[in-house]
Amino acid sequence: MAASSAPAIRPLTARDVDGGMALSSEADWNQVPDDWRHFISCGKAFGMQAPDGRLIASAAALPYDGPYGFIGMVLVTRQWRRQGLATLLIDRCVEELQCIGRTPVLDATADGVKVYRRQGFVGQFDFDRWQGHIDGAAQPAAPTPPVSDLDAAANGARRDRLMQDFLGRRDTIALGDAAGFAMIRAGRRAFQAGPVVTGDESAAIGLVARLFAQVSGLVYIDVPTAWRGLGDWLRARGFDIQRSFTRMALGRAEPFCRRDRLFAVAGPEFG
Ligand SMILES: CC(C)(COP(=O)(O)OP(=O)(O)OC[C@H]1O[C@@H](n2cnc3c(N)ncnc32)[C@H](O)[C@@H]1OP(=O)(O)O)[C@@H](O)C(=O)NCCC(=O)NCCS
Repeated sequence: MAASSAPAIRPLTARDVDGGMALSSEADWNQVPDDWRHFISCGKAFGMQAPDGRLIASAAALPYDGPYGFIGMVLVTRQWRRQGLATLLIDRCVEELQCIGRTPVLDATADGVKVYRRQGFVGQFDFDRWQGHIDGAAQPAAPTPPVSDLDAAANGARRDRLMQDFLGRRDTIALGDAAGFAMIRAGRRAFQAGPVVTGDESAAIGLVARLFAQVSGLVYIDVPTAWRGLGDWLRARGFDIQRSFTRMALGRAEPFCRRDRLFAVAGPEFG
C-alpha cells in the first residue's frame, strides 16, 4: 500500500488503551493496560485506525535518558498485515527519536526482524523467552535495592520513569542489594521477570531463585542466549523456550548495554 493510501498515523491517547490491549492480546502478548499507559504518557505512541474507528496498528518510541530510545508495541492486526503499515509507523518512531538525538533500538520477534532489516536495523544479540510454572510463597518484603542506578549502569541509559512505574505497581517485587537486583511484575498471561542485573551468572541465578520463591504461577523471563548456565538452571526447573528475540539498533551492531551485567531484559517492549 502506498503511504498516501494507508490510514493516517495519529498519536495515541489514554482513550486508546483498550484498543492497544486488543492489538497486543490478539498477538498473544503479555502486556497489561499499565504498559500501554506508560508508552502513551512517557513516550510517543502512534496508531492507525480502520474506517470504523477500530485501532488496527501501533508503534511507540520511548526516549530513554542516554544515547538511545526504545521502539516497542509494533503491532498490526492480522487482516491489515503486509500492506506497509508497520513500516510507516516504525519510520515515524525512528524520526521522533532521531529528532532528539537518540539511536533507535528495539527487540524484534522473528516476524519483526524481516521488517526492521529492510529499514537498516542491525542485530546486536539474541535472547530467549523462557516460560515455566513456579510455586513460591510470598516472603516478607525486603528493602528495595537501588533499582534505577543498577538498571542504568547495565543498560547504558537511565530509565528512571520506567523503573518507578514498575515499582509502583501493586504486584511488583524487586529484591537484591547494592551489587544487583531482580524484579518481577504481573502480566496479562504470566508474571514477567526482569530486569535481572548483577555482576556474574551465579549471582544472577541466586537472585532469580529468590525471586521465584516469592510468587506462584506462570512466569516469563527473557534471557540473553549467552547465559547458558542460567538457561540450564531454568530448564532444570521445567522451563522451556517459548520464542526468541533479537536486540537491534538502527545502523549499530555494538550494544549500548553492558552484556556482562544484563541477565534478563525488562521485556521485549521496553528492552
Ligand atoms: C511484524 C508485523 C508488525 C509486520 O507488520 P506489517 O504491517 O505486515 O509489515 P509491513 O507490511 O510494513 O512489512 C514490510 C516488509 O517486511 C517484510 N515482512 C513483513 N512481515 C513478514 C512476514 N511475516 N514474512 C516475511 N516478510 C515479512 C516484507 O518484506 C514486507 O514487505 P512486502 O510485504 O512488500 O514483502 C506484523 O506481522 C505483526 O503485528 N506481527 C505480530 C506482532 C509482532 O511480531 N510485532 C513485531 C514486534 S518486534
